[in-house]
Amino acid sequence: MRLFIAIDFSDKVKNTLKESIFELKKQADSGNFTRVENLHLTLLFIGETNNVSVIKEAIDSTAPDSFTICIGGLGKFSRAGGDTYWVGIEKNPTLYELANNLYSALRSAGFNIENREYKPHITMGREVISNSKIEFDIPTNSMPVNRISLMKSERINGKLTYTEIFGRQI
Ligand code: 2AM
Repeated sequence: MRLFIAIDFSDKVKNTLKESIFELKKQADSGNFTRVENLHLTLLFIGETNNVSVIKEAIDSTAPDSFTICIGGLGKFSRAGGDTYWVGIEKNPTLYELANNLYSALRSAGFNIENREYKPHITMGREVISNSKIEFDIPTNSMPVNRISLMKSERINGKLTYTEIFGRQI
């Protein structure tokens, strides 16, 4: 299974993000846009594995107390085939610590996970192409984080689909 660890959003945050994706679509000439049900904040991308029990242990051993994140602001990663547009997260030490602790716990357990700098972002669209500058405001929303989810990523009938296979309340 292709797995990653993530934070899901409240309905209020999803609604704001939904409107932002709508605005991005309007301003773009083309792109692959995130389906609302797939919106999430990745803590750690794991990749192909079936070793779910070790991942559950890593989530249990690193889970912090509930904390708050602030979501807002438009950003992009420039890519040759079209840019990735995302919504940002305000600097948050607990979030970084959690992502790093998950990485360390799984590396120690023998997982071969890429050592990439953690850049918290919520992808709204990939391969986005536009002739004019894409620019709009995304209001900031605060959200308490009280669950960490282990997610499975797969294509079902050609559709990228994310499903929670384990959740840990915090
Ligand atoms: P992205 O939205 O910027 O592509 C599931 O694929 C989640 O894991 C996405 O949030 C994705 O980020 C993230 N991710 C991080 N590293 C990845 C990788 N090497 N391959 C695929 N997804 C990755």
